[in-house]
Parts: sequence; C-alpha cells; structure tokens
Amino acid sequence: MRDKITKLIENSIKTLQKEKVFPKFDIPEIKIEHPKEKIHGDYSTNIAMEIAKQVKKKPMEIAENLKSQISNLKSDLFEKIEVAEPGFVNFWISKKELERLFSEFVKKGPKIFQRRPKKKETIVIEYSSPNIAKPLGVHHLRSTIIGQALVNILRFVGHKVISLSFPGDWGTQFGFLIAAFKRWGNREKLKKNPIPEMLDLYVRFSQEAKKDPKLIEEGRREFKKLEEGDKENRKIWKWFSEESLKDFSEIYKLLDVKIEHTIGESFYTPELKPLVKDALKRGIAERGKDGSIVIQIPGSPTPEIIQKSDGATIYTTRELAAIRHRLKKWRATKLLYVAANQQTFHLKQVFGTAQRLGIAKLEQLFHVKFGMMLDSQGKKFATREGCLIPLKEVLEEAIQRAKKIVDELNPSLPEKTKKSIARDVGIGAVKFFDLSHNRLADIIFDWDKMLNLKGFSAPYIQYTHARLSSILRKAKFKKKRNPRFTISHPLEREVTAAIFRFDEVIQDIVEAYFPNKLANYLYELANTLNTFYETLPVLKAENNERENRLNLVSGAKEILKTGLNLLGIPAPEKM
Ligand code: ARG
Repeated sequence: MRDKITKLIENSIKTLQKEKVFPKFDIPEIKIEHPKEKIHGDYSTNIAMEIAKQVKKKPMEIAENLKSQISNLKSDLFEKIEVAEPGFVNFWISKKELERLFSEFVKKGPKIFQRRPKKKETIVIEYSSPNIAKPLGVHHLRSTIIGQALVNILRFVGHKVISLSFPGDWGTQFGFLIAAFKRWGNREKLKKNPIPEMLDLYVRFSQEAKKDPKLIEEGRREFKKLEEGDKENRKIWKWFSEESLKDFSEIYKLLDVKIEHTIGESFYTPELKPLVKDALKRGIAERGKDGSIVIQIPGSPTPEIIQKSDGATIYTTRELAAIRHRLKKWRATKLLYVAANQQTFHLKQVFGTAQRLGIAKLEQLFHVKFGMMLDSQGKKFATREGCLIPLKEVLEEAIQRAKKIVDELNPSLPEKTKKSIARDVGIGAVKFFDLSHNRLADIIFDWDKMLNLKGFSAPYIQYTHARLSSILRKAKFKKKRNPRFTISHPLEREVTAAIFRFDEVIQDIVEAYFPNKLANYLYELANTLNTFYETLPVLKAENNERENRLNLVSGAKEILKTGLNLLGIPAPEKM
C-alpha cells in the first residue's frame, strides 16, 4: 500500500510538471507515514513541504495540486484525500480496497508478504560470536537474538542469508589458559565440568600474574608455541574449543537459534602473514618506527596496526581475512556484524582498512550495533562477585517464572503441556524483551516487565494469539477458498488496515535492521485485536457477520504467529 501511494505521488508530480503546474525540480524522497491520530487518515505525506523548499509556491497550494491530481485518477483506492495545515496530504484507504486486499490475504495467507525483493542480495550475518573457554554471558544473548531475528526477517522477504558465528578462539589469552592448565589443571575435573573449570583457570592465572609478572611471559611463550603448531598445545587448545562449542550449541538449542556456520578467528591464521606481506608490497601498509606494520585510513586519525612489533598478528588482521573469505566463499553482496556498541571504533577501523586494501567496499559492510544489558541498579549485568551471569541460568529462571503464569491461567491442562507452554513463554519473554527495545539503547533487565501478561511483552502477545486460537477452535472455523469479505464496522476496518501494515514494518526492518519495529507493531496489533473482540461479538454474531469476523480473527492470528516466529518466538495455540 505504502509503495503504491509513493508511486502515485511520484507520477502525479511528474504529470504536474509536464502540465507546467509545477516547475522543474528534483523530486525529493517521498516519505509516507502512519498518522498517530486516526482523524488524519491511514497514511500521510509531508512531500508538499519538501517541494516548497525548492519552488516558489506555498506548501498548502502544492498539497492541493497533488490532491486534485491524485483524485482525478479514477481509482477506487481511496475513500478520501484531504489537505491539512501546514501542507500535509492525508489519505484514507477505501473500504472496497481493504476488502479486496483482505480477500486475497485470506486465500494466500502471510505468504503474500513474501514478494521477491527488488534487488536480491546475498547477505552474511555474523552474530553471537562468543569467546571460547568462557561461558556464554548475558551480553552475548543480545547479539544472538537480534542476529537470528534479522536472519529470519531478511530470509522471509527473499534475500539469500548465510548465518555465521565468529567465535573468539585465538589470541594471547589462550596462551595464558594453556600455561594455567599446565601449572594447575586437573584433567578429570575439566572433563566433568569443562566451562567452569576453564574459567577458574583464567581467573587464577590473572590473580597469580599480578603477584608474579613472569607468568605473563610464560603465557606469551605458550601462545607462540601454539601459533607455531606445537603438538601438545594444539591438543589442549582443540580440546578447550570443542568443549566450548558444545556448550554454546546447547544454549542455541534452548534458544531455538540455528547458526549454519561457525568459523572462528583461528581459521584465518595461515592467511595472515601473506596478507600483511601483500599489503606491504602494494605500498598500502608501512612499517612504523617500532617495527609494527600499519595502514593509514582516509578520514581516521588513527592508523590501524595489522602486525605487532614482535611480529605477532592481531585481531584486525583476522577480521580482514574473514571479510575477504566471506565475500568470496558465498559471493556475498553484504556483510552484517551484529556486535556490541563497544565494537564501533574497532569495526569502523577494520572496515576502513578493508576498503583501503580493496577487500570490500564500505557500503557492503554494516555494523548492527546494540547497547548493554544492565541490572536494576543500572550496572553491568553480573553476579555479586562481578562475574557474568551465565545465560543458561537466566533462561531456566524465565521458564520457571513462566510456569507459574501458565499454572494460574490454565490449571486443568496436563502437566506436560503446561511445561512445554512455559518453555515457549519463558524463552519468548526473554527474547521479546531484548528485541522490543531500540537496539542502540542499553536495556535494564526486568523480570516483571518481561513477563507482564498485560504489558508490552511476549506473554501478552502470545496470550492474545492463544485467545484467537481458542475462538477459532470453538467456532470449528475452516478457511473458505473464496470468502466474500465485507467490512461493516469501524473496528473491523481497523483490524483489516492493521494487518496490512505488517508488510511495511518488515520493509522498514529490511532497510535499517531495527527489529523493535516488529515488536512494537505486534503489540499494537494485539491491542487492536483485544478491543475488537471485547467490543464486538464474534462467536455469537450472525451469518455473514460471524463469517467475516472469524476470517479477521484467523488472519490476524496468522500475522501474530508469523511476526512472533520471525522474532524467533513461538506462538502456542493454548496458554
Ligand atoms: N568475540 C567478540 C566478543 O565476544 C565479539 C566479536 C564481534 N565480531 C567481530 N567480527 N568483531 O566480544
């Protein structure tokens, strides 16, 4: 719908220019919005004000010209078009058009929103990317959840999407870990409880190193040996990596996250020296005074180091090799990095360096940033000892809390069913809480908001979905192939119009990667639906009216389900 209106406006401007009502000018970007208040119509544009900046004409006059031009185009798209101060053009979609669209939607379902994109892209989305030998913390949750939602949404609209994690599995810290293991490690204990034991080794190493700085040297030597392929060190490192990856995949399973490729930093080690050498040869990199090798980035005062003075390679060099690899392996047109705000400077430098080396164009690389997860005091989300709270514990608690809600709502359901619903609701609540915030902002972790059945939360939307499902079950509703759908009440109209906004929300996310737009939309749709079925009889309505309203309930239910699923959230039939 929004695309249609944009086209109409564009064509009208061109016609008005041809007819010399408007002088020649470059058509500014046509922005179509949903007015907050219903009295301003379904859609509204400020294009007249934009045009007025370029030509000697009042915005109101331009708006009037546009209005009459569009009204003349004998189309039954609009009920009415109005001009409003200081120069808005507002549109009301006609009942006939909404009925036509909805009948088509009933026939085909949410599939109709899966049209092919104008330009199909191959997009590699890097997300999650935890560090091995450490538990996956709450801070990785955001990357994993936002990343998976974007994978789902970009795939839904028809792009080719490759999902990828880039675990931190290389660097000096692994030398420290190996040194610690050689000094204090216990094979048996590590086998039984790998992740906590590795973490203990880490912590112990940094404590002891404060007392005895020689330990750092020892750790560096162990890393050097690892880089040079020392058999024993490689074996330890491999063991630790595998245990970590196993641990991560358990959590991914719990979260219903599917990452197709896991390619860690270590994968790129053989390519780093040649990459540096080539950059030197081409004169793009230069040797600094201290012997390090650096690249100057246009527009950045900080040159980027690609090799340290002691000859060791560095995180950035691995990032560069990874960019080259991803673009080539999948013939990707775009790479997205779902990574914390704190990585902004680092990634900007990496992208700039990649551009200078001719590995990628800047516009192919995009950092999907996000803020921190904070506790109720606004501090970093951590245990009292300052350790990160393991994600598994958070998820388990969410499921337990959700179980209480389900027990209260539906005590008579079999225990097994309730447990499975509690899982969907608990995990759904955590994911939705994350996705419902503008990703750029920090989030304050809050169980009550997350699980509020009457608030901006997954349980509220899931509950609305379950209520719609229950209405359809009671009605023994079956979709007709060619329904005759008519709108006879303003609330029916509102639900119909809301359903079609789904498409626009998805388009917006495809352009700027803000999944909270979908969360907001689903919440508003759920509100509209609650008003609808609390005000109008559905099951008790008569004949045609009953059929129409059941069709609306069924269509809206499908949208709620599709939307939740795109966010990675299940929509149980009962709650
Ligand atoms: N491993 C990093 C961390 O856990 C995140 C990596 C983000 N991705 C990237 N290509 N830099 O903090």
